[in-house]
Amino acid sequence: MRLSFTLNGQAVRLDAAPDQRAVDLLRGLGALDVKEGCGTGECGACSVLVDGAHKLSCLMLAAQLEGREVLTASGLGGEADPHPIQRAFAEHGAVQCGYCTAGMTIAAAALLAQNPDPTRLEARRAISGNLCRCTGYVKIVDAVRAAAREMADAPDQGPDGETTDREGAA
Ligand code: FES
Ligand code: FES
Repeated sequence: MRLSFTLNGQAVRLDAAPDQRAVDLLRGLGALDVKEGCGTGECGACSVLVDGAHKLSCLMLAAQLEGREVLTASGLGGEADPHPIQRAFAEHGAVQCGYCTAGMTIAAAALLAQNPDPTRLEARRAISGNLCRCTGYVKIVDAVRAAAREMADAPDQGPDGETTDREGAA
């Protein structure tokens, strides 16, 4: 089936199998920041934003991306231009092995878009579907709240990205 959607600001048009999972399609497009941990909706490693909502791409069919705007962690920012959430994770020691980090930052971005000043409990709840085997969560919550403060001081820190065309087959 033919699909069209936007991935990190780039228009994508490609053919996908009807039973293809979104996580596989996105990774096939080079979005390797979309991790697969459990593959069953338990770990959050495959988190993406779909039209701004936090979704688990291992539980989605690729067909469900049709017409949507998909954002992965690398669409939030990168090494040269980190998003405040990414910077806060690095500065607060919220990254150890890093396997959960992309998904955690996506969960945090979804939270802060809805609730720009979360309490610790609200931040914990927002990341409760994202498992981290390394950090114990305290530093992650510290980072989410630090990012919230920074974003409050400097609004308009969301992802940008001019839409360009990209064609391919997954
Ligand atoms: S890989 Fe999707 S929730 Fe674990
Ligand atoms: S930093 Fe290792 S799983 Fe979270």
